[in-house]
Amino acid sequence: MDRELMKKVAGQEAVKYIKDGMTVGLGTGSTVKYLLDALGKRVAEEGLRIIGVPTSNRSAKRARDLGIDVKSIDDVDHIDLTIDGADQIDENFQGIKGGGVAHLREKIVAINSAENIWIVDETKMAKNLGSFPLPLEVTPYGSTHLYRRLEKMGYHPSFRTNAKGGHVLTHADNYIIDLKLGYIEHPHQLEKILNNMTGIVEHGLFLDVVDKVIVGHEDHSETFVA
Ligand code: A5P
Repeated sequence: MDRELMKKVAGQEAVKYIKDGMTVGLGTGSTVKYLLDALGKRVAEEGLRIIGVPTSNRSAKRARDLGIDVKSIDDVDHIDLTIDGADQIDENFQGIKGGGVAHLREKIVAINSAENIWIVDETKMAKNLGSFPLPLEVTPYGSTHLYRRLEKMGYHPSFRTNAKGGHVLTHADNYIIDLKLGYIEHPHQLEKILNNMTGIVEHGLFLDVVDKVIVGHEDHSETFVA
């Protein structure tokens, strides 16, 4: 199974949805990398004029290196379309994101976009959410207490750490706690609970956000309308 090829297939299909003159939210991650490569090619070859709104410093740099114009979300008045990856998508097209630490910016860009497309390789599709740990961006201040509260709630938290054992930091210098839930039976109920917990800046549940999902296989892609 060649997952890189599947990601590339999805990225190359998604780039077809980008039209001249659009303002486009650019997601983050290894699948979006293929989208950016394909978009850079269209900009160079077709003279496509678009403005990219990147969701991470990584995507901003890559886009610039490829000759794609980028602007901060606060410097554009609307976003026509956002194309992003996802960590897991269930059969109702609800998603988990944040495996790459960027879900706060990704959610802000997504909710301000007229349309959202997710691009994933086939292994990301699941019947239910939860086998992929759910990322939470949390404020460092009070995070040990928040952690204990999450533990008592049975959510199996763990702080995300780097190779040196330090905390992984988000763009806003917050920490990430991953919840090993296994199976999320009621995503909307969980969303409400997490939305109400002080100290959680944003969680990685992306519910009722996506409009289309492009699934990459090794030799073709499938597009689902959510
Ligand atoms: C970034 O925080 C994530 O939400 C990514 O969009 C997600 O992890 C998908 O990344 P990959 O395409 O690298 O799997």
